[in-house]
Amino acid sequence: MTKFLRSLGLATLVASAVHAADDAAGPIKVGEFASLTGKEAAFGQSSHKGTLLAIEEINAAGGVLGRKLELITEDNQSKQGESATIAKKLISRDKVVALLGEVASGRTLEAAPIAQHARVPLITPSSTNKSITEKGNYIFRTCFIDPFQGGVMAKFARQHLKLQRVAVLSSVALPYSVDLAKYFREAFAAQGGAIVADLKFTEGDKDFKAQLTSIKAAGVDGIFVPGYYTEAALIARQARELGLTCPLFGGDGWEAPQLIEIGGPAMEGTYFSTHYSSEDPSPAVRGFVKRFRVRFANETPDAMAALGYDSAMILADALRRAGTTEPAKLRDAIAATRNYDGITGRTTIDSHRNASKTAVVIAIQDGRFHFVESVAP
Ligand code: PHE
Repeated sequence: MTKFLRSLGLATLVASAVHAADDAAGPIKVGEFASLTGKEAAFGQSSHKGTLLAIEEINAAGGVLGRKLELITEDNQSKQGESATIAKKLISRDKVVALLGEVASGRTLEAAPIAQHARVPLITPSSTNKSITEKGNYIFRTCFIDPFQGGVMAKFARQHLKLQRVAVLSSVALPYSVDLAKYFREAFAAQGGAIVADLKFTEGDKDFKAQLTSIKAAGVDGIFVPGYYTEAALIARQARELGLTCPLFGGDGWEAPQLIEIGGPAMEGTYFSTHYSSEDPSPAVRGFVKRFRVRFANETPDAMAALGYDSAMILADALRRAGTTEPAKLRDAIAATRNYDGITGRTTIDSHRNASKTAVVIAIQDGRFHFVESVAP
């Protein structure tokens, strides 16, 4: 009982401290945690640039509620444990009104309980693991979830690639990989395909020859690799070295220029699902690509950049509708987001605080990413 009262008291204290400290005379502080350096630096860099562009555009147009937005970004160096520490720091030291991040599901999962406990809304732009928004009613996302993404790639494998016997090579511990593998297996089997080999690797592994040798022996016509770009590219190279010529395919974790830099010609004829294509001819995407390229030295924005941008815009929209930075009211306004037209399509936050959105399948040809098809939810 004492323990219960104490934890209740702590929660109230933290929540009121956050609200009382939002100094209405200054800018509205928005916290961002991202992998700006380290293993998944490509994710954090892209997401951050998109988020920053949105904040700059909002401020150039006068800000929100008569105040400017101040983006406070912290780098977790792609390291486990850092995102929890950073979330605490952004909440208690900087008194941010909301948190934006992360790209990688595992790192969002670290920060979510902290944001929930402090009653500070958290919006992940691009983490797709289903369990994230189950951490509490202050946790939101502006992208689709992995049950959908696994189904998209299972259908693509069956109908587009006409695959029958497939291997799954997934990470043992990465929450994103473990669950995406699970949803893919279920959907692929439901559509009449067979998973004939199911092997694991550990994040940071460099040698996948043992797993690929078993996969080769099983006789497969495709390999699904739900992981991040570094491992996916090394796996593709080693598969080709072992004489496996079948298509490899994965999910949004593949998206980074490093996939092609590391994988080289081994990536030809591989596929992955993601959230948006910069080749989309719609005026919204064309305008965004143009502004992003002007701001960031001719770089073409990828899915993380587009989702980072949309997440900050959706937060600003919710602040306007809430009419206040008060956490409970801001939370309610984010939850009430309906038909927000952004760069990555139309966002409606559902009762589970998720967004249901169209996926895009990309092929790698001639060392470049090409749009293949879009799949509606
Ligand atoms: N969806 C991935 C995850 O949850 C992250 C990711 C999103 C990677 C978008 C690339 C593009 O871990």
